Amino acid sequence: MTPLRIAVVGYGKLGVIHTRLLADSELFELVGVVDPMLENRSLATETHGVIGYECVDEILDQIDCAVVATPTVFHHDVCSILLAAGKHVLVEKPITATVSEAQSLVALAAFHRVKLQVGHVVRFDPHFQTGQNLIQEPRLIECTRASGYTFRSMDVGVTLDLMIHDLDLVLSLVDSPVKSLQATGCAVIGPHEDIAHARLTFENGTMANLTASRTSHTQVRCLQATGSSGHVSIDFMNNEFVNFVGVGDALGALDIDPVTASDAVKQDVTERFFTELLPQQSVPITPCNAIEEEHRDFHRSISEDSSPIVCGSTGLRVLEIATRIAETIKAGTTDEPVSAKGPHFDNAPSSAESTTLYKSHVRGV
Ligand SMILES: NC(=O)c1ccc[n+]([C@@H]2O[C@H](COP(=O)([O-])OP(=O)(O)OC[C@H]3O[C@@H](n4cnc5c(N)ncnc54)[C@H](O)[C@@H]3O)[C@@H](O)[C@H]2O)c1
Repeated sequence: MTPLRIAVVGYGKLGVIHTRLLADSELFELVGVVDPMLENRSLATETHGVIGYECVDEILDQIDCAVVATPTVFHHDVCSILLAAGKHVLVEKPITATVSEAQSLVALAAFHRVKLQVGHVVRFDPHFQTGQNLIQEPRLIECTRASGYTFRSMDVGVTLDLMIHDLDLVLSLVDSPVKSLQATGCAVIGPHEDIAHARLTFENGTMANLTASRTSHTQVRCLQATGSSGHVSIDFMNNEFVNFVGVGDALGALDIDPVTASDAVKQDVTERFFTELLPQQSVPITPCNAIEEEHRDFHRSISEDSSPIVCGSTGLRVLEIATRIAETIKAGTTDEPVSAKGPHFDNAPSSAESTTLYKSHVRGV
């Protein structure tokens, strides 16, 4: 099998991880790294012996495909250049900063008949892969994703930064259109929302509650789903098990009146609760590197000419819902965009001003 020639565009936190894995991959030949910052390019050359390029145009004739890990506000411009040149693209999540930008990338990829994959990497997480096989006909899903403040991804709010991971998972689990959504949130540091809560109701009646915070003193990443087969509880921070509480046969045969039952009957039921009635088990996961699996899927989709698991249209749908949530938060909290003020920054710039400011600090294409 001939490896595909690949470049990593954006050698920051995520780009460093992609580069390290691709440099060791048998599926790809790492041709170069693109970053406008000289010190980042030098670091890539020093670490992996690859050539650093200042601009993506400089490497187009040497590659088959690219991973784009620039700040989100530059995804559209960078991906457009790559797709228009006929290169397959794996772009980090979220697909773009706006829905219209994402629509244009999806159309461009289709026009040039190249693959556009979006880095919703939790789909490849072994916890989720084990858990999703246990969940049947989910009725209620709850997701929490919280971390401390890192001063990263400030170009977007927490909805597009963190909650979008869980939105992608929820939309992949529920085979029904979103009927309605409610959301609330606030800026703590700002300028965008740093805490977000959302409730989605699907046309088939399923509900999903999502919470995301990037100003939390504890780190949490979990998903719980209750469906016809039982209750699945995934703790993404625990590397060993997915907990599953199934609906046992004995539950159907249970014939008691919980109000009038004797103490002996209550005691008996209590003792059998999580063994026979709702049998609980810890299902072991098979550890793997989710980003490596994501790369494998990218390679498979290109070499087999099939859709990647998380294609551009999926990334677009997730972004559409995330944008509705972020807009609902903005509209519902104050007369001005919520991004205009955080409790600690009374004179923080508006969202648009902040994006311009951000772009001027981090050089784009
Ligand atoms: N999949 C995940 O779990 C996950 C986690 C964190 C971040 N991300 C996503 O990855 C992307 C990058 O995030 P990060 O935290 O690595 O950011 P970062 O700021 O650490 O790195 C971004 C890099 O891109 C470079 N850059 C800026 N403009 C560029 C351009 N036009 N061409 C090439 N390089 C350019 C910057 O110099 C910087 O080195 C974001 O879209 C973010 O949402 C994904």
